[in-house]
Amino acid sequence: MADGRHTLLNRLDPPPAAAAQARASAGTAAAQRPSARKVHIKTYGCQMNVYDSRRMADLLAPLGYAETDAAEDADLVVLNTCHIREKAAEKVYSELGRLRRIKEAPGRRPMKIAVAGCVAQAEGPEIAARAPVVDFVLGPQSYHRLPELIARDAREKGRVLETGFDVEAKFDVLKDVYGAAAANEGPTAFVTVQEGCDKFCTFCVVPYTRGAEVSRPGSAILEEARMLADRGVREVTLLGQNVNAWASDGDGQGAWGLGELCRALARIDGLDRIRFTTSHPRDMDDGLIAALGEEPKLMPYLHLPVQAGSDKILKAMNRGHDADHYVRLIDRIRAARPDIALSGDFIVGFPGESEADFEATLDLVREVTFASAFSFKYSRRPGTPGAAMGGHAPEDTKADRLKRLQALLEEQRVAFNAATVGRRLPVLFEKPGRRAGQLVGRSPYLQPVHAMGPHGLIGEIVEVDIVGTTPNALAGEMAGEAIAAAEKGAA
Ligand code: SAH
Ligand code: SF4
Ligand code: F3S
Repeated sequence: MADGRHTLLNRLDPPPAAAAQARASAGTAAAQRPSARKVHIKTYGCQMNVYDSRRMADLLAPLGYAETDAAEDADLVVLNTCHIREKAAEKVYSELGRLRRIKEAPGRRPMKIAVAGCVAQAEGPEIAARAPVVDFVLGPQSYHRLPELIARDAREKGRVLETGFDVEAKFDVLKDVYGAAAANEGPTAFVTVQEGCDKFCTFCVVPYTRGAEVSRPGSAILEEARMLADRGVREVTLLGQNVNAWASDGDGQGAWGLGELCRALARIDGLDRIRFTTSHPRDMDDGLIAALGEEPKLMPYLHLPVQAGSDKILKAMNRGHDADHYVRLIDRIRAARPDIALSGDFIVGFPGESEADFEATLDLVREVTFASAFSFKYSRRPGTPGAAMGGHAPEDTKADRLKRLQALLEEQRVAFNAATVGRRLPVLFEKPGRRAGQLVGRSPYLQPVHAMGPHGLIGEIVEVDIVGTTPNALAGEMAGEAIAAAEKGAA
């Protein structure tokens, strides 16, 4: 496994006591409070990167960095990048071209550029060679060292590459700085509970960019969730590349899986909704299925990617299960939680996929039915086993299959949304909508819901009558008594 990782990585081991150093520099900076500087953080890729970007903002706040939406306005720009598909990775280089023009404009005040995230991990030396404009390259498991790098760079004026895998040190540092930004996140928040992946699907770069599976201790997660609940967060989404592989000792109460963790989180007052993503079919254990059935705070929505419906392709992908395993698993989950809304990820045109293999994916989708889904054309990623396989499909075959699959998935999504019309659903309102007086929230099934209502209901869970659908959302109406009840609850 480790050998596999080395094919894509250029690792520099962090110097000893990295965590202590980073903490120390964050602490000193907080004491000095230098004059205001601005950081622009641009995030690509998955929710894990969204979480990491928030934590980078937390780390930089004590150094005097306020966030700005405009790179033009920034002293420091951080690109938090994604390497999952070729297009995602290439975006970084075009963005660096744009930043270079800003940075090198005559009379421009000094600007530092950091490339973080999964492209940084996978292509660190290449970034350094292709884009001399970049000052720092830091991987997903070493971004906690950003304050230290900034301090070091100010002294040495050198370029720095940090791509170590010290996940525990990272969480240790984050624990001390987490908070300032969390207050601004609104009523929903992400909590990373697990990092990395040991599954090695043959198409995927994540095991190389994020490293081995590591679970955060349950006590640290509960502490973070309590802090968020104290700040008014009503819903947490637990994040992990394989979130249901999470395992930890439960504060000395024996071994815990994700089901136990969710039950413990459900006991936190003020926290009313719990979600988790992304799950792997092989790690969906009985404890978690039982928790989904029994714990009302666990939302009836499950993102459980299957990728393909052909056993031959699932095997070539190294997914570790066949189509029948997935279908039977869904039956068990639906038996425990009949109203569960399912979501999935699919790849079309994996090497060797025939028309019959692709049709097996369509058959599986018809059998299972999904409320929402993400689907992609296979993208060849250098260094992964899939890249070296024979039978790569031509681009137009992939495009055609994607179109057919997406048409079917879209039909199912529209039907799922239509089936909620006429129901009364609890909606957690998150922010104002585009129209005056409109609020936007989420149903238990993660559907966006628009409804007219007082601004004070943001952060409240309100019973909403679903009266129609729009292309991407549900239209809802709040009954007068529902508004009164929610306002009373909020008071
Ligand atoms: N850990 C999650 C997903 C990680 S990546 C899981 O195991 O399901 C998110 C999605 O991107 C994957 O589920 C897959 O559908 C897609 N993906 C990953 N590598 C890809 C590639 N090389 N080409 C196309 N899609 C890919
Ligand atoms: Fe990638 Fe597979 Fe790991 Fe998901 S389980 S992150 S698809 S290797
Ligand atoms: Fe992309 Fe890395 Fe997430 S490759 S999908 S940002 S784990």
